[in-house]
Amino acid sequence: MSSVKELVESKCLSSVPSNYICLENPEDSILNYETDNIPTIDFSQLTSSNPSVRSKAIKQLGDACRDWGFFMLINHGVSEILRDEVIRTSQGFFDLTEKEKMEHAGRNLFDPIRYGTSFNVTVDKTLFWRDYLKCHVHPHFNAPSKPPGFSQTLEEYITKGRELVEELLEGISLSLGLEENYIHKRMNVDLGSQLLVINCYPPCPNPELVMGLPAHTDHGLLTLLMQNELGGLQIQHNGKWIPVHPLPNSFLINTGDHMEILTNGKYKSVVHRAVANTKATRISVGTAHGPKLDTIVGPAPELVGDDNTASYRAIKYSDYIELQQNHELDGKSCLDRIRI
Ligand code: OGA
Ligand code: NI
Repeated sequence: MSSVKELVESKCLSSVPSNYICLENPEDSILNYETDNIPTIDFSQLTSSNPSVRSKAIKQLGDACRDWGFFMLINHGVSEILRDEVIRTSQGFFDLTEKEKMEHAGRNLFDPIRYGTSFNVTVDKTLFWRDYLKCHVHPHFNAPSKPPGFSQTLEEYITKGRELVEELLEGISLSLGLEENYIHKRMNVDLGSQLLVINCYPPCPNPELVMGLPAHTDHGLLTLLMQNELGGLQIQHNGKWIPVHPLPNSFLINTGDHMEILTNGKYKSVVHRAVANTKATRISVGTAHGPKLDTIVGPAPELVGDDNTASYRAIKYSDYIELQQNHELDGKSCLDRIRI
């Protein structure tokens, strides 16, 4: 199976090979998108020593999780230099020879480092216009040794990402009327799983015929995403697809399936997808932050009651990941598989 990058570079590609042609035209469904943008959360307010500023930010955070499941995080303190370096070295990884990258062509979901293409080539009916590198970076850090500096840059970046997410999880716990460290303790966040996913979407001659990454939701509690200057992410909101245009230097954060399970549906995991473009290679860097892999996640007892019975069955986090990754992405959330 060749990578999309190799396909694009090996031929002067003037049209899309038939095995990439997606029957659902991504442009059809965005005809009537809304003009309003996703909410913005100011991280410096969330960590303010002024209690009234902080509690206002926590309320905004809760509203964003409940009404959108997606928001931009600004004033987060992660330097632009570090972010640019992550994008630059990620591009450097995909620019290695196919032979060098194939050293990481893992077969198994829980391989520490896995390079590949599409979503899961053993189940995909059509191929997707993306190559990826996935590294399990917490509780054990793993990253390729090439290109030079890549691993060190990633380690610094994912540590910063964890700090942001831990703070967000405290704010989210409070927004739910729970103790500040509720999610922390219940989800074993100290030993929580952090999966780094770097997506590479090479330019495509007919982006309207392919999908970069088809509609899906993310497993885990929160995903933190940044991208190079090219857009392509779309989220589903009130039944419509909305293209996301993040503010410069912001992070995109979305609630994942395990936040939906834990909150018994109060905070929803939002369906999203990525489309290709003609111009240049788009790189996006996501980190999915979840519970410790062997944690059994079900709705929090504090959030269920007689008038709000549990809507999801409890399942071990690692089993859920397998459930998601071993099925074709068919536009529906994997949550449907565990709904009661
Ligand atoms: C993902 C994802 C979106 C993007 O990797 O799960 O949704 O914009 N990526 O690349
Ligand atoms: Ni995603």
